[in-house]
Amino acid sequence: MKIEPFLLERWMTRHETHVKYDIAESGILPLSTHDLLQFEPEGTRAATLEALLQLPLGYSEACGTVALRSALAATYQLVAADQILVTTGAIEANYLLFQVLLDAGDHVIAPYPAYQQLYSVPRAIGCEVSLWEVGPETDYRYDVDALERLLTPRTKLIVVNTPHNPTGAMLSPADAARVYALAESVGAWVIGDEAYRWLSVPGGDPFAPPAVDMGARGISVGTLSKPYGLPGLRIGWMAGPRDVIERCWGMRDYITLSPGKLNDALACLALRHHDKIVERNRVIITANLAAASAWIESRQDMLSWTAPRGGLLGLLKYNLPVDSLTLADTLATEYSVMLAPGSAFGYEQHLRLGIGQRPDMFARGLAEAGRALDRFRASS
Ligand SMILES: Cc1ncc(COP(=O)(O)O)c(C=O)c1O
Repeated sequence: MKIEPFLLERWMTRHETHVKYDIAESGILPLSTHDLLQFEPEGTRAATLEALLQLPLGYSEACGTVALRSALAATYQLVAADQILVTTGAIEANYLLFQVLLDAGDHVIAPYPAYQQLYSVPRAIGCEVSLWEVGPETDYRYDVDALERLLTPRTKLIVVNTPHNPTGAMLSPADAARVYALAESVGAWVIGDEAYRWLSVPGGDPFAPPAVDMGARGISVGTLSKPYGLPGLRIGWMAGPRDVIERCWGMRDYITLSPGKLNDALACLALRHHDKIVERNRVIITANLAAASAWIESRQDMLSWTAPRGGLLGLLKYNLPVDSLTLADTLATEYSVMLAPGSAFGYEQHLRLGIGQRPDMFARGLAEAGRALDRFRASS
């Protein structure tokens, strides 16, 4: 299979280990094993640690332990543990689903801009991919009328990503129901990439139900990377009809086989403390969203955005005579700040900002980025 380069990943890996202020990062400030243990009641903390230390590191249950799959299933309305496949991040879940559900020539609708996997993998399979725009043309919102115009009797799959990377757009509950009904009307699947589930922003929009809870054509993809601050565990999952789960599992036998055993155990520990983690995220997001809004307001002559309605990401539009890759490279190499170039998402004159990192670092990153933008303005 020939596939286009994953532009954002290529750009991030160039800079992410060198910069001081990574405010392009798509996740929330990571938690450590120590942090997870601190969530445990004092009386059981030592026993929890001991159980982790004593866990024999053999191969794990191929589709994830029953304990983990049961805990994940319980986050949906009518999903049983055997409808969950634990994967190496949401990225593997999406990949398996595309491979299993799609054939060359199928018609797919995917959001754009987007996490590039969502349209590049279907394209690499040989599908005809229609891009459903969520960018400046629609004021960084989902427009279901536009989706309806893209739908054909041949449409095999509609991909939805809400909250949306990179705009922070949300599909409303009513619009999500409409998307599902449209898919059903032509016998298509709906994959809900719900990587940013549980990450609400102050004053943001309500969450639509997960795709799997909408009906038999809905499949949800989730991850502990974003909402739990645990991308290093590489624990994601899909929730869907049993036959789809079986077929994805069958394909996964050839790729990663099973989740890491310790990672599965740490994932169970994290899920037990869902509410505390959500609250911790809320504090970080609230501080950073306020700082970002004030920073953008103070530079209205060159910056604007539609603040995220959910999730951790927003696209900044800038009004300077410099392309986004040059600007982002200059920010990274000369100011030690990472803001992702819009060109990686197909949108010039934009930078992607992530509001999930440590608030003091985030504020310093904004200040440094501001210095750089002021310099570009003065020299233009
Ligand atoms: C929309 C979306 N889906 C999936 C992923 C993959 O996440 P992971 O594999 O870490 O779970 C990402 C990561 O940035 C993402 O933004």
